[in-house]
Amino acid sequence: MPSSDNRRLSVTRVDVSKGHEAEFHAISTQFAAILAQKDYGRFVVVADEADPSRFYSVHHWNGVASAELSHGDPEVQALTARLHQIARVTHVVNGVRRPEVMKVLADRRAKVEAERRTGFDRRQKDAGRPDGDRRKGSDRRLGPRRLRDRPGEVDLIAAARRAREHAEAAFSHFKVGAALETADGEVITGCNVENATYGLTICAERVAMFKAISEGHRAFLRIAIVADTEAPTPPCGACRQILWEFGGNLEILLANLQTAKGSYRLQDLLPLPFDARLL
Ligand code: THU
Repeated sequence: MPSSDNRRLSVTRVDVSKGHEAEFHAISTQFAAILAQKDYGRFVVVADEADPSRFYSVHHWNGVASAELSHGDPEVQALTARLHQIARVTHVVNGVRRPEVMKVLADRRAKVEAERRTGFDRRQKDAGRPDGDRRKGSDRRLGPRRLRDRPGEVDLIAAARRAREHAEAAFSHFKVGAALETADGEVITGCNVENATYGLTICAERVAMFKAISEGHRAFLRIAIVADTEAPTPPCGACRQILWEFGGNLEILLANLQTAKGSYRLQDLLPLPFDARLL
């Protein structure tokens, strides 16, 4: 019996293309059988009751080594390849790459709950306003706690527009802003940073992702990208790779300073990606 502290949990969100539900269940059944037979772990699929095409695949690995053996197993790889043909797969929790992710998220939540502070931790406990003067309704400040309780309500594009104002674009004069939403509702922003060597320039999207990674985030939902152009500005190839490796099949929102310009899935912008599963 593996010791409980060696076990690892990974969760992926699976959005199955219409008409492929039966195939998804067949793949899942085979996957669960392989994991059990080869003693890699246990595999459970949880259906999203609000969305008939969305499922959560929960992998209870017997340990990091079992997970790695499973990733390298040709039978598992063949099933995974079939799954990717019929579904969008987004890593929500990768317990193998980052075992402490659950703890990081739990700690972050506990901290926010305990302090009851919002506005990304900068808001004062009491600004001394008389009761009648407090911000109300749509003026109320949104912070991690309330965003988490109402997922999807954060205005990510507005956050990217604000981030864009910090861009260092003295050479191209092309300012870009990005805002990345984590699975627990935080927003991490980035802007492009150019410099005199040109070649060391870094795009807004990678700045946002690297900031998020360095702050301990490992699960992401969406990223908004804003530039001041009529045609939408999609992420460059290098950014697509980094976003895929750390964020999986993110939703990509493109916008300019006035309007939203479209929403994409990273899998569609980066078909046949290279990633750690191939190493
Ligand atoms: N840039 C980004 O920040 N993100 C993109 O998606 C496209 C390009 C930046 C890099 C450089 O500073 C400037 O835009 C012109 O390429």
